[in-house]
Amino acid sequence: MSHTWWRGAAIYQVYLRSFADGNGDGVGDLAGLRSRLPYLKDLGVDAVWLNPWYPSPMADGGYDVADYRGIEPVFGTLGEAERFIAEAHELDIKVIIDVVPNHSSTESDWFKEALANPAARDRFWFRDEPNDWQSIFGGPAWTQVPDGQWYLHLFAPEQPDFNWDNPEVHREFEDVLRFWLDRGVDGVRIDSAALLVKSDTAYEDLDPVHDVYRRWRQVAEEYDERVLIGELWLADQERFARYLRPDELHTAFNFDFLACPWDPDELRRVIDLTLATHAPVGAPPTWVLSNHDVTRPVTRYGRSDTSFAHGGALHGVPSDPELGYRRARAAALLAMALPGGLYVYQGEELGLPEVEDLPDELRQDPMYARSGGANPGRDGCRVPLPWSGDEPPFGFGGSRPWLPQPESWRKLTAESQLADLDSMLNLYRHGLRLRREHLGDGTLTWLPAAERVLAFTRDTGVTCVTNLGTETVPLPDGVVLLASGGLEDGALPPDTTAWVR
Ligand code: NOJ
Repeated sequence: MSHTWWRGAAIYQVYLRSFADGNGDGVGDLAGLRSRLPYLKDLGVDAVWLNPWYPSPMADGGYDVADYRGIEPVFGTLGEAERFIAEAHELDIKVIIDVVPNHSSTESDWFKEALANPAARDRFWFRDEPNDWQSIFGGPAWTQVPDGQWYLHLFAPEQPDFNWDNPEVHREFEDVLRFWLDRGVDGVRIDSAALLVKSDTAYEDLDPVHDVYRRWRQVAEEYDERVLIGELWLADQERFARYLRPDELHTAFNFDFLACPWDPDELRRVIDLTLATHAPVGAPPTWVLSNHDVTRPVTRYGRSDTSFAHGGALHGVPSDPELGYRRARAAALLAMALPGGLYVYQGEELGLPEVEDLPDELRQDPMYARSGGANPGRDGCRVPLPWSGDEPPFGFGGSRPWLPQPESWRKLTAESQLADLDSMLNLYRHGLRLRREHLGDGTLTWLPAAERVLAFTRDTGVTCVTNLGTETVPLPDGVVLLASGGLEDGALPPDTTAWVR
Protein backbone atom coordinates (compact mmCIF):
# COMPACT_ATOMS: atom_id res chain seq x y z
CA MET A 1 0.00 0.00 0.00
CA SER A 2 1.53 3.30 -0.98
CA HIS A 3 1.53 6.05 1.60
CA THR A 4 0.69 9.11 -0.37
CA TRP A 5 -0.19 12.50 1.11
CA TRP A 6 -3.98 12.16 0.96
CA ARG A 7 -4.13 8.99 3.05
CA GLY A 8 -3.75 10.87 6.32
CA ALA A 9 -4.25 14.48 5.27
CA ALA A 10 -6.11 17.10 7.28
CA ILE A 11 -8.21 18.88 4.66
CA TYR A 12 -9.77 22.27 5.37
CA GLN A 13 -12.99 23.04 3.54
CA VAL A 14 -13.23 26.59 2.23
CA TYR A 15 -16.71 27.84 1.43
CA LEU A 16 -15.33 30.69 -0.64
CA ARG A 17 -18.35 33.01 -0.42
CA SER A 18 -18.03 33.09 3.34
CA PHE A 19 -14.31 32.75 4.00
CA ALA A 20 -12.82 36.22 3.46
CA ASP A 21 -13.78 39.13 1.23
CA GLY A 22 -10.82 40.76 -0.50
CA ASN A 23 -12.62 43.40 -2.57
CA GLY A 24 -15.21 44.61 -0.08
CA ASP A 25 -18.39 43.59 -1.93
CA GLY A 26 -19.62 41.47 0.97
CA VAL A 27 -18.86 38.13 -0.72
CA GLY A 28 -15.77 36.06 -0.02
CA ASP A 29 -13.35 35.69 -2.92
CA LEU A 30 -9.94 34.46 -4.07
CA ALA A 31 -8.23 37.68 -3.01
CA GLY A 32 -9.56 37.17 0.52
CA LEU A 33 -8.54 33.54 0.54
CA ARG A 34 -5.03 34.35 -0.70
CA SER A 35 -4.61 36.92 2.04
CA ARG A 36 -5.56 34.33 4.65
CA LEU A 37 -3.30 31.52 3.46
CA PRO A 38 -0.90 32.15 6.37
CA TYR A 39 -3.82 31.48 8.76
CA LEU A 40 -4.35 28.08 7.15
CA LYS A 41 -0.65 27.36 7.26
CA ASP A 42 -0.56 28.17 10.98
CA LEU A 43 -3.68 26.12 11.58
CA GLY A 44 -1.67 23.15 10.36
CA VAL A 45 -3.79 21.73 7.54
CA ASP A 46 -2.32 19.78 4.64
CA ALA A 47 -4.83 20.74 1.98
CA VAL A 48 -7.80 22.93 1.23
CA TRP A 49 -10.95 21.88 -0.59
CA LEU A 50 -12.89 24.70 -2.20
CA ASN A 51 -16.59 24.47 -2.98
CA PRO A 52 -17.37 25.28 -6.65
CA TRP A 53 -15.66 28.43 -7.85
CA TYR A 54 -16.98 28.44 -11.40
CA PRO A 55 -19.17 31.04 -13.12
CA SER A 56 -22.63 30.41 -11.71
CA PRO A 57 -25.99 32.13 -11.27
CA MET A 58 -25.71 30.85 -7.65
CA ALA A 59 -29.11 29.19 -7.59
CA ASP A 60 -27.47 26.58 -5.33
CA GLY A 61 -24.39 28.33 -3.96
CA GLY A 62 -22.33 27.56 -7.08
CA TYR A 63 -23.43 23.93 -7.49
CA ASP A 64 -25.21 25.22 -10.58
CA VAL A 65 -22.17 25.50 -12.85
CA ALA A 66 -22.46 27.57 -16.02
CA ASP A 67 -18.86 27.08 -17.22
CA TYR A 68 -16.59 24.34 -15.88
CA ARG A 69 -13.42 25.99 -17.15
CA GLY A 70 -13.78 29.43 -15.64
CA ILE A 71 -13.94 31.31 -12.34
CA GLU A 72 -17.03 33.12 -11.09
CA PRO A 73 -16.24 36.84 -11.56
CA VAL A 74 -17.48 37.60 -8.03
CA PHE A 75 -14.70 35.29 -6.79
CA GLY A 76 -11.95 36.53 -9.13
CA THR A 77 -10.28 35.42 -12.35
CA LEU A 78 -8.64 32.31 -13.72
CA GLY A 79 -5.30 34.06 -13.35
CA GLU A 80 -5.99 34.61 -9.66
CA ALA A 81 -7.00 30.99 -9.24
CA GLU A 82 -3.67 29.97 -10.77
CA ARG A 83 -1.80 32.32 -8.47
CA PHE A 84 -3.73 30.95 -5.51
CA ILE A 85 -2.74 27.37 -6.44
CA ALA A 86 0.90 28.41 -6.74
CA GLU A 87 0.87 30.30 -3.42
CA ALA A 88 -0.79 27.42 -1.60
CA HIS A 89 1.83 25.07 -3.01
CA GLU A 90 4.62 27.36 -1.84
CA LEU A 91 3.22 26.94 1.66
CA ASP A 92 3.02 23.18 1.15
CA ILE A 93 -0.78 23.22 1.09
CA LYS A 94 -2.49 21.05 -1.54
CA VAL A 95 -5.53 22.30 -3.43
CA ILE A 96 -8.69 20.29 -4.05
CA ILE A 97 -11.54 21.64 -6.14
CA ASP A 98 -15.15 20.60 -6.50
CA VAL A 99 -16.38 19.00 -9.72
CA VAL A 100 -20.12 18.82 -10.33
CA PRO A 101 -20.81 16.11 -12.92
CA ASN A 102 -24.41 15.19 -12.10
CA HIS A 103 -25.95 18.45 -13.19
CA SER A 104 -25.17 21.75 -14.82
CA SER A 105 -26.82 25.16 -14.84
CA THR A 106 -29.69 26.34 -16.99
CA GLU A 107 -27.25 29.13 -17.89
CA SER A 108 -24.65 26.76 -19.39
CA ASP A 109 -24.08 26.93 -23.16
CA TRP A 110 -25.13 23.31 -23.54
CA PHE A 111 -28.43 23.81 -21.80
CA LYS A 112 -29.19 27.03 -23.65
CA GLU A 113 -28.51 25.15 -26.89
CA ALA A 114 -30.80 22.33 -25.74
CA LEU A 115 -33.59 24.77 -25.00
CA ALA A 116 -33.27 26.47 -28.36
CA ASN A 117 -32.98 23.25 -30.36
CA PRO A 118 -34.83 20.04 -29.42
CA ALA A 119 -32.32 18.08 -31.53
CA ALA A 120 -29.56 19.13 -29.11
CA ARG A 121 -31.13 17.70 -25.95
CA ASP A 122 -29.35 14.40 -25.61
CA ARG A 123 -26.70 15.80 -23.23
CA PHE A 124 -29.47 16.25 -20.65
CA TRP A 125 -32.36 14.12 -19.46
CA PHE A 126 -35.36 15.30 -21.48
CA ARG A 127 -38.59 13.30 -21.69
CA ASP A 128 -42.05 13.82 -23.17
CA GLU A 129 -43.62 12.78 -19.88
CA PRO A 130 -42.19 13.19 -16.38
CA ASN A 131 -42.24 10.36 -13.86
CA ASP A 132 -43.04 10.77 -10.16
CA TRP A 133 -39.50 11.57 -8.96
CA GLN A 134 -39.22 14.30 -6.37
CA SER A 135 -36.33 16.77 -6.21
CA ILE A 136 -33.93 16.28 -3.31
CA PHE A 137 -34.62 19.94 -2.48
CA GLY A 138 -38.39 19.35 -2.43
CA GLY A 139 -41.05 19.58 -5.15
CA PRO A 140 -41.10 17.70 -8.46
CA ALA A 141 -37.80 16.72 -10.10
CA TRP A 142 -39.08 17.76 -13.55
CA THR A 143 -39.65 21.12 -15.17
CA GLN A 144 -41.49 21.65 -18.43
CA VAL A 145 -40.00 23.75 -21.22
CA PRO A 146 -42.17 25.90 -23.53
CA ASP A 147 -42.41 23.27 -26.31
CA GLY A 148 -43.87 20.76 -23.86
CA GLN A 149 -40.93 18.49 -23.03
CA TRP A 150 -39.70 18.04 -19.46
CA TYR A 151 -36.16 17.96 -18.14
CA LEU A 152 -34.93 16.21 -15.04
CA HIS A 153 -33.30 18.06 -12.15
CA LEU A 154 -32.66 15.98 -9.06
CA PHE A 155 -31.89 19.26 -7.28
CA ALA A 156 -33.20 22.76 -8.16
CA PRO A 157 -34.86 23.51 -11.54
CA GLU A 158 -31.79 25.65 -12.33
CA GLN A 159 -29.66 22.46 -12.17
CA PRO A 160 -30.55 20.25 -15.16
CA ASP A 161 -29.14 16.70 -14.89
CA PHE A 162 -26.68 15.48 -17.49
CA ASN A 163 -27.30 12.34 -19.51
CA TRP A 164 -24.34 10.07 -18.80
CA ASP A 165 -25.48 7.66 -21.53
CA ASN A 166 -24.10 10.22 -23.95
CA PRO A 167 -20.37 9.76 -24.73
CA GLU A 168 -19.98 13.49 -25.27
CA VAL A 169 -20.70 14.06 -21.58
CA HIS A 170 -17.93 11.60 -20.68
CA ARG A 171 -15.47 13.33 -22.99
CA GLU A 172 -16.41 16.74 -21.67
CA PHE A 173 -15.73 15.84 -18.05
CA GLU A 174 -12.47 14.06 -18.78
CA ASP A 175 -11.41 17.21 -20.54
CA VAL A 176 -12.54 19.38 -17.61
CA LEU A 177 -10.53 17.18 -15.23
CA ARG A 178 -7.42 17.62 -17.36
CA PHE A 179 -8.04 21.34 -17.60
CA TRP A 180 -7.71 21.69 -13.82
CA LEU A 181 -5.13 18.97 -13.22
CA ASP A 182 -2.96 20.74 -15.81
CA ARG A 183 -3.31 23.87 -13.68
CA GLY A 184 -1.90 22.08 -10.70
CA VAL A 185 -4.90 21.14 -8.58
CA ASP A 186 -4.07 18.15 -6.42
CA GLY A 187 -7.48 16.57 -6.40
CA VAL A 188 -11.18 16.84 -6.99
CA ARG A 189 -14.17 16.35 -4.75
CA ILE A 190 -16.93 14.82 -6.84
CA ASP A 191 -20.38 16.18 -6.10
CA SER A 192 -23.34 13.79 -5.88
CA ALA A 193 -21.01 11.07 -7.11
CA ALA A 194 -23.48 8.18 -6.98
CA LEU A 195 -26.23 9.89 -8.98
CA LEU A 196 -24.71 10.39 -12.44
CA VAL A 197 -25.98 7.36 -14.32
CA LYS A 198 -29.74 6.94 -14.53
CA SER A 199 -32.34 4.63 -15.95
CA ASP A 200 -36.00 5.47 -16.41
CA THR A 201 -36.76 3.95 -13.02
CA ALA A 202 -33.71 4.61 -10.81
CA TYR A 203 -30.95 7.13 -10.33
CA GLU A 204 -28.88 6.15 -7.34
CA ASP A 205 -25.83 3.93 -7.40
CA LEU A 206 -26.37 2.28 -10.78
CA ASP A 207 -23.52 -0.04 -11.75
CA PRO A 208 -22.34 1.77 -14.91
CA VAL A 209 -21.31 4.78 -12.79
CA HIS A 210 -18.23 2.77 -11.85
CA ASP A 211 -17.05 2.87 -15.47
CA VAL A 212 -17.01 6.66 -15.20
CA TYR A 213 -14.71 6.58 -12.17
CA ARG A 214 -12.43 3.91 -13.65
CA ARG A 215 -11.87 6.27 -16.55
CA TRP A 216 -11.34 9.23 -14.23
CA ARG A 217 -8.83 7.22 -12.23
CA GLN A 218 -6.88 6.62 -15.43
CA VAL A 219 -6.93 10.34 -16.11
CA ALA A 220 -5.75 11.12 -12.55
CA GLU A 221 -2.96 8.57 -12.88
CA GLU A 222 -1.56 10.48 -15.83
CA TYR A 223 -0.49 12.98 -13.18
CA ASP A 224 1.42 12.74 -9.90
CA GLU A 225 -0.33 12.02 -6.61
CA ARG A 226 -3.73 13.43 -7.51
CA VAL A 227 -6.77 12.38 -5.50
CA LEU A 228 -10.40 11.68 -6.41
CA ILE A 229 -12.82 12.10 -3.50
CA GLY A 230 -16.43 10.98 -3.68
CA GLU A 231 -19.44 12.63 -2.13
CA LEU A 232 -21.41 9.44 -1.59
CA TRP A 233 -24.42 9.32 0.70
CA LEU A 234 -25.07 5.57 0.54
CA ALA A 235 -26.63 3.54 3.31
CA ASP A 236 -25.16 0.23 2.10
CA GLN A 237 -21.49 0.01 3.11
CA GLU A 238 -20.67 -2.73 0.63
CA ARG A 239 -22.02 -0.62 -2.18
CA PHE A 240 -20.09 2.37 -0.80
CA ALA A 241 -16.81 0.43 -0.77
CA ARG A 242 -17.20 -0.45 -4.43
CA TYR A 243 -16.42 3.19 -5.29
CA LEU A 244 -13.11 2.88 -3.44
CA ARG A 245 -11.76 -0.14 -5.28
CA PRO A 246 -8.14 0.34 -6.29
CA ASP A 247 -9.00 1.44 -9.83
CA GLU A 248 -11.74 3.92 -8.85
CA LEU A 249 -11.89 6.78 -6.33
CA HIS A 250 -9.20 7.22 -3.70
CA THR A 251 -11.38 8.26 -0.77
CA ALA A 252 -14.91 9.37 0.12
CA PHE A 253 -16.54 11.40 2.86
CA ASN A 254 -17.66 9.49 5.93
CA PHE A 255 -21.20 10.74 6.39
CA ASP A 256 -22.11 8.02 8.86
CA PHE A 257 -19.61 9.54 11.27
CA LEU A 258 -20.87 13.05 10.55
CA ALA A 259 -24.47 12.05 11.21
CA CYS A 260 -23.70 9.90 14.24
CA PRO A 261 -25.19 10.94 17.60
CA TRP A 262 -22.95 11.69 20.58
CA ASP A 263 -23.34 8.20 21.93
CA PRO A 264 -20.52 5.75 22.72
CA ASP A 265 -22.21 2.65 21.30
CA GLU A 266 -23.25 4.37 18.11
CA LEU A 267 -19.83 5.96 17.65
CA ARG A 268 -18.08 2.68 18.27
CA ARG A 269 -20.39 0.96 15.80
CA VAL A 270 -19.79 3.60 13.11
CA ILE A 271 -16.01 3.61 13.64
CA ASP A 272 -15.82 -0.19 13.44
CA LEU A 273 -18.08 -0.28 10.41
CA THR A 274 -15.99 2.41 8.72
CA LEU A 275 -12.76 0.53 9.32
CA ALA A 276 -14.27 -2.76 8.19
CA THR A 277 -15.66 -1.14 5.04
CA HIS A 278 -12.40 0.46 3.99
CA ALA A 279 -9.93 -2.30 4.86
CA PRO A 280 -10.80 -4.76 2.07
CA VAL A 281 -10.35 -2.12 -0.63
CA GLY A 282 -7.24 -0.59 0.95
CA ALA A 283 -8.69 2.93 1.00
CA PRO A 284 -8.13 5.23 3.99
CA PRO A 285 -11.26 6.18 5.94
CA THR A 286 -12.09 9.83 6.42
CA TRP A 287 -13.53 11.54 9.49
CA VAL A 288 -15.91 14.43 9.01
CA LEU A 289 -17.84 16.36 11.64
CA SER A 290 -19.36 19.06 9.48
CA ASN A 291 -19.61 20.69 6.09
CA HIS A 292 -21.58 23.38 4.27
CA ASP A 293 -24.72 21.20 4.15
CA VAL A 294 -25.19 20.28 7.79
CA THR A 295 -25.94 21.79 11.19
CA ARG A 296 -22.85 23.12 12.99
CA PRO A 297 -21.58 20.58 15.58
CA VAL A 298 -21.62 23.02 18.52
CA THR A 299 -25.39 23.43 18.03
CA ARG A 300 -26.12 19.81 17.19
CA TYR A 301 -24.24 18.33 20.13
CA GLY A 302 -26.07 20.61 22.56
CA ARG A 303 -29.47 19.20 21.62
CA SER A 304 -31.19 16.22 23.16
CA ASP A 305 -31.10 14.47 19.74
CA THR A 306 -27.46 14.86 18.68
CA SER A 307 -27.73 13.01 15.37
CA PHE A 308 -27.95 14.74 12.00
CA ALA A 309 -30.43 13.93 9.23
CA HIS A 310 -31.11 16.13 6.23
CA GLY A 311 -34.86 16.25 6.64
CA GLY A 312 -34.32 16.85 10.34
CA ALA A 313 -32.27 20.03 9.97
CA LEU A 314 -34.68 21.92 12.18
CA HIS A 315 -34.21 25.29 13.74
CA GLY A 316 -35.43 26.40 17.10
CA VAL A 317 -34.74 23.03 18.73
CA PRO A 318 -33.35 23.84 22.17
CA SER A 319 -29.58 23.44 22.38
CA ASP A 320 -27.37 23.86 25.44
CA PRO A 321 -24.46 25.95 24.08
CA GLU A 322 -21.97 25.02 26.80
CA LEU A 323 -22.65 21.33 26.49
CA GLY A 324 -22.53 21.51 22.70
CA TYR A 325 -19.25 23.39 22.79
CA ARG A 326 -17.69 20.94 25.21
CA ARG A 327 -18.76 17.94 23.16
CA ALA A 328 -17.65 19.56 19.89
CA ARG A 329 -14.17 19.93 21.41
CA ALA A 330 -14.15 16.31 22.51
CA ALA A 331 -15.44 15.18 19.11
CA ALA A 332 -12.72 17.18 17.35
CA LEU A 333 -9.93 15.36 19.19
CA LEU A 334 -11.65 12.02 18.66
CA ALA A 335 -11.93 12.66 14.91
CA MET A 336 -8.32 13.86 14.69
CA ALA A 337 -7.08 10.71 16.43
CA LEU A 338 -8.81 8.20 14.16
CA PRO A 339 -6.78 6.57 11.40
CA GLY A 340 -7.14 8.11 7.95
CA GLY A 341 -7.97 11.51 6.55
CA LEU A 342 -9.71 14.38 8.34
CA TYR A 343 -11.96 17.19 7.11
CA VAL A 344 -12.41 20.48 8.93
CA TYR A 345 -15.14 22.78 7.65
CA GLN A 346 -14.32 26.48 7.94
CA GLY A 347 -15.55 27.92 11.21
CA GLU A 348 -15.53 24.52 12.92
CA GLU A 349 -12.11 25.48 14.29
CA LEU A 350 -13.72 28.63 15.72
CA GLY A 351 -16.56 26.71 17.34
CA LEU A 352 -19.15 28.71 15.40
CA PRO A 353 -22.74 27.78 16.20
CA GLU A 354 -25.47 27.40 13.60
CA VAL A 355 -27.09 30.79 12.95
CA GLU A 356 -30.76 30.04 13.32
CA ASP A 357 -32.28 33.50 13.33
CA LEU A 358 -31.36 34.74 9.85
CA PRO A 359 -34.11 36.94 8.43
CA ASP A 360 -36.20 34.79 6.09
CA GLU A 361 -35.83 37.22 3.22
CA LEU A 362 -32.06 36.78 3.30
CA ARG A 363 -32.10 32.99 3.18
CA GLN A 364 -30.65 31.84 -0.14
CA ASP A 365 -30.65 28.07 0.06
CA PRO A 366 -33.16 26.60 -2.43
CA MET A 367 -34.00 23.97 0.20
CA TYR A 368 -35.70 26.67 2.22
CA ALA A 369 -37.83 28.04 -0.62
CA ARG A 370 -38.63 24.66 -2.18
CA SER A 371 -39.82 23.23 1.12
CA GLY A 372 -42.10 26.23 1.59
CA GLY A 373 -40.00 27.21 4.60
CA ALA A 374 -40.51 23.85 6.36
CA ASN A 375 -36.78 23.14 6.04
CA PRO A 376 -34.68 26.12 7.22
CA GLY A 377 -32.00 25.17 4.69
CA ARG A 378 -28.25 25.41 5.02
CA ASP A 379 -27.60 29.13 5.24
CA GLY A 380 -27.12 28.91 9.00
CA CYS A 381 -23.80 27.09 8.63
CA ARG A 382 -22.65 29.35 5.79
CA VAL A 383 -22.49 32.71 7.55
CA PRO A 384 -19.25 34.63 6.79
CA LEU A 385 -16.39 34.00 9.19
CA PRO A 386 -15.54 36.43 11.99
CA TRP A 387 -11.85 37.30 11.77
CA SER A 388 -11.25 40.24 14.07
CA GLY A 389 -12.67 43.29 15.81
CA ASP A 390 -15.70 43.93 17.98
CA GLU A 391 -18.51 44.35 15.50
CA PRO A 392 -19.75 42.96 12.19
CA PRO A 393 -18.30 42.37 9.63
CA PHE A 394 -15.58 41.25 12.05
CA GLY A 395 -12.75 41.71 9.56
CA PHE A 396 -14.50 39.59 6.91
CA GLY A 397 -14.08 42.52 4.50
CA GLY A 398 -16.40 45.20 3.16
CA SER A 399 -19.19 46.48 5.33
CA ARG A 400 -22.13 44.14 4.74
CA PRO A 401 -21.49 40.43 4.37
CA TRP A 402 -23.98 38.56 2.18
CA LEU A 403 -25.41 36.92 5.29
CA PRO A 404 -25.39 38.88 8.56
CA GLN A 405 -23.13 37.72 11.40
CA PRO A 406 -24.48 37.63 14.96
CA GLU A 407 -23.16 40.39 17.25
CA SER A 408 -22.24 37.67 19.74
CA TRP A 409 -19.50 36.46 17.38
CA ARG A 410 -17.20 39.15 18.80
CA LYS A 411 -16.09 36.48 21.28
CA LEU A 412 -15.45 33.99 18.47
CA THR A 413 -13.19 35.95 16.12
CA ALA A 414 -9.97 34.26 15.04
CA GLU A 415 -8.10 37.22 16.51
CA SER A 416 -9.61 36.92 19.98
CA GLN A 417 -9.25 33.13 19.99
CA LEU A 418 -5.59 33.29 19.04
CA ALA A 419 -4.99 35.27 22.22
CA ASP A 420 -6.79 32.69 24.38
CA LEU A 421 -4.79 29.52 24.98
CA ASP A 422 -7.94 27.56 25.83
CA SER A 423 -9.91 28.58 22.76
CA MET A 424 -11.34 26.20 20.18
CA LEU A 425 -8.95 27.66 17.61
CA ASN A 426 -5.93 26.87 19.75
CA LEU A 427 -7.28 23.37 20.41
CA TYR A 428 -7.45 22.79 16.64
CA ARG A 429 -4.02 24.32 16.06
CA HIS A 430 -2.43 22.24 18.75
CA GLY A 431 -4.35 19.09 17.79
CA LEU A 432 -3.53 19.35 14.09
CA ARG A 433 0.15 19.82 14.85
CA LEU A 434 0.27 16.77 17.08
CA ARG A 435 -1.82 14.85 14.59
CA ARG A 436 0.69 15.53 11.87
CA GLU A 437 3.46 14.17 14.07
CA HIS A 438 1.72 11.19 15.67
CA LEU A 439 -1.62 10.35 14.02
CA GLY A 440 -3.15 10.35 10.51
CA ASP A 441 -2.95 7.22 8.36
CA GLY A 442 -2.53 3.86 10.09
CA THR A 443 -4.43 1.50 12.36
CA LEU A 444 -6.07 1.46 15.79
CA THR A 445 -6.55 -1.08 18.57
CA TRP A 446 -9.48 -0.74 20.96
CA LEU A 447 -8.66 -0.84 24.66
CA PRO A 448 -10.88 -2.12 27.45
CA ALA A 449 -12.65 0.89 28.98
CA ALA A 450 -15.30 1.87 31.51
CA GLU A 451 -18.90 2.10 30.42
CA ARG A 452 -19.61 4.94 27.99
CA VAL A 453 -15.89 5.47 27.40
CA LEU A 454 -14.14 4.99 24.05
CA ALA A 455 -10.44 4.19 24.26
CA PHE A 456 -8.05 3.10 21.54
CA THR A 457 -4.34 3.10 20.87
CA ARG A 458 -2.90 4.12 17.55
CA ASP A 459 -0.09 2.24 15.83
CA THR A 460 2.12 5.21 16.73
CA GLY A 461 1.65 4.64 20.46
CA VAL A 462 -0.79 7.47 21.15
CA THR A 463 -3.90 6.52 23.15
CA CYS A 464 -7.13 8.44 22.68
CA VAL A 465 -9.77 8.31 25.39
CA THR A 466 -13.21 9.94 25.05
CA ASN A 467 -15.57 10.00 28.00
CA LEU A 468 -19.22 10.08 26.92
CA GLY A 469 -20.51 9.13 30.37
CA THR A 470 -21.51 11.19 33.36
CA GLU A 471 -18.67 10.20 35.75
CA THR A 472 -15.03 11.27 35.67
CA VAL A 473 -12.82 8.30 34.67
CA PRO A 474 -9.12 7.54 35.16
CA LEU A 475 -6.72 7.91 32.23
CA PRO A 476 -4.08 5.32 31.32
CA ASP A 477 -0.53 5.95 32.55
CA GLY A 478 1.55 8.25 30.39
CA VAL A 479 2.04 11.83 29.39
CA VAL A 480 -1.11 13.73 28.44
CA LEU A 481 -0.33 15.28 25.06
CA LEU A 482 -3.58 17.20 24.78
CA ALA A 483 -7.06 17.25 26.28
CA SER A 484 -10.24 18.91 25.04
CA GLY A 485 -11.04 20.23 28.53
CA GLY A 486 -9.53 20.49 32.00
CA LEU A 487 -8.66 17.22 33.78
CA GLU A 488 -9.68 16.56 37.40
CA ASP A 489 -6.66 15.37 39.34
CA GLY A 490 -5.37 13.74 36.20
CA ALA A 491 -8.73 12.04 35.47
CA LEU A 492 -11.02 12.61 32.47
CA PRO A 493 -14.33 14.43 33.08
CA PRO A 494 -17.51 13.76 31.05
CA ASP A 495 -17.65 14.91 27.43
CA THR A 496 -13.90 15.24 27.23
CA THR A 497 -11.20 13.60 25.08
CA ALA A 498 -7.53 13.21 26.00
CA TRP A 499 -4.51 11.96 24.09
CA VAL A 500 -1.97 10.11 26.18
CA ARG A 501 1.44 8.75 25.32
C1 NOJ B 1 -23.98 18.29 -2.57
C2 NOJ B 1 -23.43 19.62 -2.17
O1 NOJ B 1 -22.61 19.47 -1.05
C3 NOJ B 1 -24.63 20.51 -1.90
O2 NOJ B 1 -24.25 21.73 -1.33
C4 NOJ B 1 -25.37 20.71 -3.20
O3 NOJ B 1 -26.55 21.45 -2.95
C5 NOJ B 1 -25.77 19.38 -3.83
N1 NOJ B 1 -24.71 18.41 -3.82
C6 NOJ B 1 -26.18 19.57 -5.27
O4 NOJ B 1 -25.06 19.92 -6.04
